[in-house]
Amino acid sequence: MTTLLTPRHLGAIVAEKGLAHCLATLVAYLEQDFARWGEFDKTARVANHSAEGVIELMPISDAELYTFKYVNGHPKNFKVGLPTVMAFGVLARVDTGTPVLLSELTLTTAMRTAATSVMVAKKLARPESRTMALIGNGAQSEFQALAFHLLLGIDALRVYDIDPQATAKLVANLQDVAPALRITTCASTAEAVRGADIVTTVTADKTNATIITPDMLEPGMHINGVGGDCPGKTELHADVLRAGSVFVEYEPQSRIEGDLQQMPADFAVTEFWRVLEGSAPGRTSPTQVTVFDSVGFALEDFSALRLLRDLALELGLGDRISLVPEMADPRNLFGQLGLRGVAAEAAADLARVSAHVRAALAA
Ligand SMILES: NC(=O)c1ccc[n+]([C@@H]2O[C@H](COP(=O)([O-])OP(=O)(O)OC[C@H]3O[C@@H](n4cnc5c(N)ncnc54)[C@H](O)[C@@H]3O)[C@@H](O)[C@H]2O)c1
Repeated sequence: MTTLLTPRHLGAIVAEKGLAHCLATLVAYLEQDFARWGEFDKTARVANHSAEGVIELMPISDAELYTFKYVNGHPKNFKVGLPTVMAFGVLARVDTGTPVLLSELTLTTAMRTAATSVMVAKKLARPESRTMALIGNGAQSEFQALAFHLLLGIDALRVYDIDPQATAKLVANLQDVAPALRITTCASTAEAVRGADIVTTVTADKTNATIITPDMLEPGMHINGVGGDCPGKTELHADVLRAGSVFVEYEPQSRIEGDLQQMPADFAVTEFWRVLEGSAPGRTSPTQVTVFDSVGFALEDFSALRLLRDLALELGLGDRISLVPEMADPRNLFGQLGLRGVAAEAAADLARVSAHVRAALAA
């Protein structure tokens, strides 16, 4: 049997364990998996592009588990009442290929992206960081704000979106759950980033946007660039990348999809797992500008699916479904169709018809 987790189950998990606990545990699972980077069979995701967006498959495995995520990115989806990003995924056993878990990953993607941002900022942002600018106040934004507030001590948020309704929604949601977070609504990106220790960009547009320009940089800033994650879709001016030290998840994928796509092939970047491992430096001075050019890598969904499997088991949550046939004789797949009686009837019908046809031809 396969366990099915729907968004309803995800809500139950978060209600039971608490959002802070879920995000903190997710960071721990991510750190465990990024620390054993070499054990994974990795590949850049497979993307099918259209005029409106992209649909991607993100597979990865270690010796025991295989996972994949299906995810889309359609920035104009809100016009037809759909989210920009929707996702689901599977966790399977490598030894037999059995699908163990089939799960919603739309809510989970928002949580794992925020947890990844925090994992990276823990190493790269200045430890005394307290103020974050949050540019783009859509579906992902509350998760980013809360992860930084709950896990990294961010207590002041400066928010901006070209759509004031998105900002109003963000502020209303956060006021409910994080009363200690001071939120300032700003009139522009430039105003929001002024004086911020961390700048998170999480905008959606199918274009090469320049949300952050070099004149907005201040010494010691950490840029958490989340929204530039597809060919032809960037958020950071090329000179922002030149001005900072750039960190990525999986370089072959980030060169295609990240803000990094604007840079020459030999532009130096550091894969974050090296910082975690200690074989590459993270922040080297309080004035250095650090940039996390986040695109979202399959390993993050691997960690998230692993956590969901463990929490579903612990809490006894999820529907048990027969996603693949369960057979007394695994080689009698045809028997699963239950056609044997039907097939006999069909054969008799066929015999009657062909006798009739033969008789007609002979007449
Ligand atoms: N790096 C990752 O791992 C990762 C994971 C999930 C989503 N994403 C990306 O993050 C982005 C946001 O996703 P979402 O689900 O929140 O989308 P969304 O459509 O719900 O929200 C995007 C918001 O950005 C705003 N926006 C667009 N252009 C802007 C601009 N120039 N200045 C300020 N605000 C602007 C929109 O008005 C909207 O409110 C998408 O591009 C998505 O692909 C990345």
